[in-house]
Amino acid sequence: MSVTGKALVITASGGNEVFSLVNNHTVPAPGPGQVIIKAVASSVNPVDAYVRSGAYASKTFPKVIGGDVSGHIHAVGEGSTKFAVGDAVYALSTSFVPFAAEGFEGTYAEYVLVKEDWVSLAPKSLSLADAAGVPLVFLTALQALEKASPVKGQRVLVLGASGAVGQHGVQLAKQVFGLHVTGVSSAKHADLVKSLGADEVWDYKEGPEGLKATFSSNKFDIIFDVIGGELLDAAVTVLKSEGYITHIRNKGSGDAPDRYTKAFEDGTGHKFGATFVQPSGSGLDKATELLDSGKLVQKTALTLPLAEAGKGHDIVTDGHAGGKVILII
Ligand SMILES: NC(=O)c1ccc[n+]([C@@H]2O[C@H](COP(=O)([O-])OP(=O)(O)OC[C@H]3O[C@@H](n4cnc5c(N)ncnc54)[C@H](OP(=O)(O)O)[C@@H]3O)[C@@H](O)[C@H]2O)c1
Repeated sequence: MSVTGKALVITASGGNEVFSLVNNHTVPAPGPGQVIIKAVASSVNPVDAYVRSGAYASKTFPKVIGGDVSGHIHAVGEGSTKFAVGDAVYALSTSFVPFAAEGFEGTYAEYVLVKEDWVSLAPKSLSLADAAGVPLVFLTALQALEKASPVKGQRVLVLGASGAVGQHGVQLAKQVFGLHVTGVSSAKHADLVKSLGADEVWDYKEGPEGLKATFSSNKFDIIFDVIGGELLDAAVTVLKSEGYITHIRNKGSGDAPDRYTKAFEDGTGHKFGATFVQPSGSGLDKATELLDSGKLVQKTALTLPLAEAGKGHDIVTDGHAGGKVILII
């Protein structure tokens, strides 16, 4: 049966003035392989603000945006046996970008329809509110690091180590892949990055030339990049010739994916892979295991009611939150 509840929709592309809280958002009955989650929380990712402002635009409004959801299983589709009504779960939906949405809507809503393959049982060691901050950033870090096929003991340089994705990048690099981790962040967040397991932290205020000077005689095997731009170009000069650049498409990407892919294919550049995160219930099973065994920590910077998502968008767009902004549904 379909179900109707509240949602924060955007009524057009634009600034935070396009948000509107409604109570008549209807989600269709789940089909085979689908479930409805009654949401406890969602979280704000930078991509949400891009979509709100018109990037990746689909021109149908009103539209629910957002990719992360935590909550309880409300209904399961015919033949779906993976989850039972009432299970505490979390998921990344493809709805965070309209071109990938396959007809699914976003997660800034009370009821969210997703494929069961995108869902995992939520960690018991976190509140469901904090768990909503995990899916998109954890899966991004995991998928990007796996691409680089890391080998225990290798040296990785994490650009954006204090950010929501980078925090998982640092922890996975250290705890799961056994790498020597150098995190790049502001001085303000150096202690945070060290507490996540980084062996050393470098302050990005020293600039691209500072990065080259510091590491030219002690090069890296892997660059994990969520920043792009001049910092990435400088980092590549301190990457071993056989090293791997694992790049996450971001606002500083510019022509980097094309440029580095071409150089790699020409045989003049490093191995390069660009990640656009994909939903994955099995990936989130790993997050649950790591969180519940204490090998991974999740940092919430701020918790807001759904109606104040715009404030969260401003904070995340500023780019120095030091953790996730959670939206309580
Ligand atoms: N392709 C994908 O699938 C995918 C998935 C997730 C995210 N992303 C993208 O990845 C980026 C990061 O996402 P996030 O959620 O981790 O964001 P975030 O939590 O806001 O983190 C931003 C990071 O950037 C750092 N930073 C800010 N200004 C900087 C500067 N001038 N030089 C160097 N570093 C600087 C911050 O360091 P301080 O806080 O220490 O200043 C922080 O580490 C975003 O552009 C997002 O869209 C892409």
